[in-house]
Amino acid sequence: MASYDVIILGSGPGGYVCAIRCAQLGLKTAVVEGRETLGGTCLNVGCIPSKALLHATHQLHEAEHNFEKMGLKGKAPTVDWKQMQAYKADTIAQNTKGIEYLFKKNKIDWLKGWGSIPEAGKVKVGDDTHEAKNIVIASGSDAATVPGADVTIDEKTVVTSTGALELPKIPKTMVVIGGGVIGLEMGSVYARLGTEVTVVEFLDAITPGMDAEVQKGFQKILKKQGLNFVMGAAVHTVETLKTKAKVHYKLRKDDSEHMLDADVVLVSTGRKPVTKGLGLDTLGVELTKRGQIATDDHWQTSVKGIYAIGDVIEGPMLAHKAEDEGMAVAEVLAGKHGHVNYGVIPGVIYTHPEVANVGETEESLKEAGRAYKVGKFSFMGNGRAKANFAADGFVKILADKDTDRILGAHIIGPMAGDLIHEICVAMEFGASAEDLALTCHAHPTYSEAVREAALACGDGPIHA
Ligand code: NAI
Repeated sequence: MASYDVIILGSGPGGYVCAIRCAQLGLKTAVVEGRETLGGTCLNVGCIPSKALLHATHQLHEAEHNFEKMGLKGKAPTVDWKQMQAYKADTIAQNTKGIEYLFKKNKIDWLKGWGSIPEAGKVKVGDDTHEAKNIVIASGSDAATVPGADVTIDEKTVVTSTGALELPKIPKTMVVIGGGVIGLEMGSVYARLGTEVTVVEFLDAITPGMDAEVQKGFQKILKKQGLNFVMGAAVHTVETLKTKAKVHYKLRKDDSEHMLDADVVLVSTGRKPVTKGLGLDTLGVELTKRGQIATDDHWQTSVKGIYAIGDVIEGPMLAHKAEDEGMAVAEVLAGKHGHVNYGVIPGVIYTHPEVANVGETEESLKEAGRAYKVGKFSFMGNGRAKANFAADGFVKILADKDTDRILGAHIIGPMAGDLIHEICVAMEFGASAEDLALTCHAHPTYSEAVREAALACGDGPIHA
């Protein structure tokens, strides 16, 4: 039995970042992880591998659609799926080994196995029980099945994002259930590889919760790229046959029944927190109505000395939100002040173009009755975007009508996931749109579109 200041359950972005910060702050730290490699869903079967496939297939798209226009002639590359999978596996390995290196460097113990908490202050891993002054649960989330529907996931024909990342071959047809982040990212990957992809979405708009103008513009762009959409449709049954599946759905507007055939069905209707097997019932750790672990302002659960962060608690299921909570809880455990500004957590969809957002939407501002103004600028007016065949999309900044303070921003466009961060920093400093507009932006960069949108909140943009 070993004794620690902190034991963290789970080595995803929440857990491993928390561990590193705990160690940096002088706490004796261990992480329990049952996977063969560190990094959790994000590094092993989520963010990182999906970005490798998105990158590779985007290069293919560029070769097929834009090379010739730039005078780059010759046959477009053919796809060696095995090699693409090997590239993805190598990307995963480099990242997971990187975490292992950081653990060694920071003298963090990796307790290999699946952990449970027999009582506060104790963590059981296999036959060993370890002592910990504090425990942090960072057990993450799992794919949820289609709510209220008859769907059996076999990770072969009916897959979650995990199965979709390692299909043995590129399917001819794919039905994606749920037009959220996972469905659109993985749908884009396969559409670029030649699969006929149909997204079946329950609501009338994709990417729930996003700015409505972005939702519409984004769907239009994806349609142009070849993705098919069936909107306002509730999938209720997926029949799995020998090598394909039949997806049955009802259109909400008239209750009519429809069916789609698919070689592969991707279920991307959300994720659920992983709490099973941790021993939370016996401990009396309270859960929310949605099955997440309930925490207070300092991420402490209803049991003293047990904390929780990331996908297993409330809030957006995003790696960077978990990382921020991981750092903040480490500060709390070290007797300092941990803080997360939940109002400034960016969201990014890594399609092409990328989609990024932070803060309020027009819809949320209207609902709150807050007077706001909109500054919008199209990438059509951005020289760099035009040169790079990347002029689809826009930057939209929402600012307080009276004070000009930035309240939110929404971007569809090239490198949107990187561009959003200057607006995040501005928001953290309580900046006005004018502050951004008066900041010199290098020419020619995509970031000029952000400045132009900020100018559009005032006297107007230059290039529109
Ligand atoms: P999601 O919550 O983003 O979208 C699920 C969609 O499924 C919704 O639009 C919903 O209306 C639809 N749906 C539900 N039941 C349905 C039915 N019976 N028939 C048709 N449609 C139905 O869920 P998703 O895409 O699975 O992502 C899960 C989590 O993972 C999200 O919280 C997301 O933020 C996170 N994630 C984030 C990424 C990123 O930041 N780039 C990448 C991948 C995942």
